[in-house]
Amino acid sequence: MKAKALTSALAATAMSLAMTSVSSADSEKIEDAIDYRQSVFTAIGYHFSPMSDMLRGEIEFDAERFDHHANRVSELADMPWEGFIDESYDGQHGFKTTASAKIADDRGHFNEIANELVTTASDLEAASANDADMRTLAGLLSKVGSSCKSCHDDYRNK
Ligand code: HEC
Repeated sequence: MKAKALTSALAATAMSLAMTSVSSADSEKIEDAIDYRQSVFTAIGYHFSPMSDMLRGEIEFDAERFDHHANRVSELADMPWEGFIDESYDGQHGFKTTASAKIADDRGHFNEIANELVTTASDLEAASANDADMRTLAGLLSKVGSSCKSCHDDYRNK
């Protein structure tokens, strides 16, 4: 009896180890996915900031440059999401990431905010291409910024 209990305890331990450990191939894949999504976000930030600086009067407004950045953010907006793969979240395997593990549990809501970014960025791009005035652009840029913020508030660990 005793021996059997021990064997099944060992079996359970072995099983849970098999479930939590990742092979080095998987771990490389996870690290690549993290690098990928962080790089896309860096690129998004690179193009978002000058638009915000222009509309806040910190740098001179240049319609052509604005248009370029609006284009880029819109192009990049649907790219980060495929990098959010299983086991790639903060605290899971010691990789440097601030992506909350809540993303895996709330993927539907996370995707909704991701789609909101795609839509708001595309609206901004269209308005900019149609030479909208700065007030309109500011309203649309602030909607893009709200998508960034609401996702970071919920799913990016400090
Ligand atoms: C649907 C969710 C979501 C949206 C929308 C979103 N982000 Fe993020 N962002 C994240 C998460 C999660 C991380 C953490 C990624 C990581 O560390 O693996 C992140 C990280 C970043 C980073 C840091 C990248 C790095 O190298 O660590 C920047 C910069 C950034 N986001 C900018 C933006 C900007 C600008 C917007 C809006 C135009 C935006 N994000 C919209 C979820 C989002």
